[in-house]
Amino acid sequence: MESINRKELKVSAIENGTVIDHIPAKSVFRVVKMLKLDQTELPVTIGFNFDSKKFGSKGIIKASNLFFEKRDANRIALIAPTATLIVIKNYEVVSKHQVEIPDTIEQFVKCVNPNCITNHQQITTRFDVIDKDDLKLQCHYCEKITGKNNIEIL
Ligand code: CTP
Ligand code: ZN
Repeated sequence: MESINRKELKVSAIENGTVIDHIPAKSVFRVVKMLKLDQTELPVTIGFNFDSKKFGSKGIIKASNLFFEKRDANRIALIAPTATLIVIKNYEVVSKHQVEIPDTIEQFVKCVNPNCITNHQQITTRFDVIDKDDLKLQCHYCEKITGKNNIEIL
């Protein structure tokens, strides 16, 4: 009983909004940036290095009064494939789903090729996800492959 109470105190519940749970602890700030939560005026709670039975250590983000399009939320699967997206209304969990890597990615990711047109002109990057397990993104413009170790979030 006591331990349950202590758990609750770690990060308080939210009334309405979105919880992103089970984020690899080291990816929390990249997720914050990707969802532009560093630019909102709404309350956002960020926690990391929390104990997780499944992952050992995890991060969590709670964004009050913010709801994301599935498309936007799924982009975070690129850097946080284990993340769960939870929608809260009136303090209740109304939906919970695992983020999924989309088939195409627009914006957010920088092309690895220094000569790519997207690195020289104001052109939104665009990639086809050609491998979801061993993450590989193929640039729509130069066809070069940006791999999971090179993913740089714009
Ligand atoms: N949560 C919240 N505000 C609420 C309800 C839930 O911030 N009003 C958060 C909880 O802190 C938890 C997540 O939403 O991080 C999911 O809630 P719940 O399903 O109740 O938790 P668990 O059963 O622990 O979920 P799981 O086993 O999937 O980790
Ligand atoms: Zn390119």
